[in-house]
Amino acid sequence: MPPLVKQEDINQARELIYKIAGLYMPQNKDSVIGNRLNKLSRELDIQNYPDFFTALKRGQFKQDFINAFTTNKTDFFREGFHFKDMIERVLPERLQYSEPLKVLCAASSTGEEPYSIAATLLFAKEICQSNTQVSIQAIDINTSVLEVARTGNYVVDTRLNPLPTWMELEDYFDITRLNEHEVSVCAKQNLKKILNFKQYNLCSPTYPFGTRDFDIIFCRNVLIYFKVEDQEQILQKLFSYLKFRGTLYLGHSESILGLAPKVDRLGQNIFVKVAE
Ligand SMILES: C[S@@+](CC[C@H](N)C(=O)[O-])C[C@H]1O[C@@H](n2cnc3c(N)ncnc32)[C@H](O)[C@@H]1O
Repeated sequence: MPPLVKQEDINQARELIYKIAGLYMPQNKDSVIGNRLNKLSRELDIQNYPDFFTALKRGQFKQDFINAFTTNKTDFFREGFHFKDMIERVLPERLQYSEPLKVLCAASSTGEEPYSIAATLLFAKEICQSNTQVSIQAIDINTSVLEVARTGNYVVDTRLNPLPTWMELEDYFDITRLNEHEVSVCAKQNLKKILNFKQYNLCSPTYPFGTRDFDIIFCRNVLIYFKVEDQEQILQKLFSYLKFRGTLYLGHSESILGLAPKVDRLGQNIFVKVAE
């Protein structure tokens, strides 16, 4: 039996996940915190939460705690208008240059998002008959989702996540029907070759990239888990790694906050950098 979760355990977990990963779980998330502590206690055989928190503060179990407390919901070609914007607006122009094109996918979860970006890039290269080198740096704080992402193997329920028909998906994924609704989707080597996965905390003071390194940054459905002041800081940092005229894609319920004067807004949370 896992130990009973008390309110002080919930408060302590709230404080520590904020301190370690910047994730803000207000009081209306208490039941989520309780469930995650229960699950973690079964996985790690925790007998007593105060002892567990003491160990956590000393640095033990930190990664297990992070992995248990992040929300990793994602899908292939989620918020499809961002991929359409890449195909129609960004890539036809950008792929005319010989300079390598670099994309950052911040908070890439189990990898469906960066593989969707990778397939979109290769599809656009084919249409534009471009030789431009393309690459994607995908980062996440959760090591177990990164492990899944590196395999590139998925089972997709096409009722919940319909796959796009505007590209020949088979050029980029091995797709096998498993039953009426599910397909197995495995990223091919051509996608894996242009993708790199790395563990990184968006709350770190700086990121391991060069200034204005990226042509495109995806930062979707992660800022919502931070306090507004922390969202502001993360956006400022990400922005410093985006090239002039580069594109930033945010999730549907996220906001550009203090960067508003420095971007052109194209709608659907698509932003183009027009000032430093
Ligand atoms: C809901 S998923 C979003 C996945 C994807 N971007 C999408 O829109 O489908 C949020 C991801 O953010 C990651 N994350 C949470 N806090 C983070 C942090 N401090 N640094 C980096 N990644 C973080 C989680 O591990 C999780 O995989």
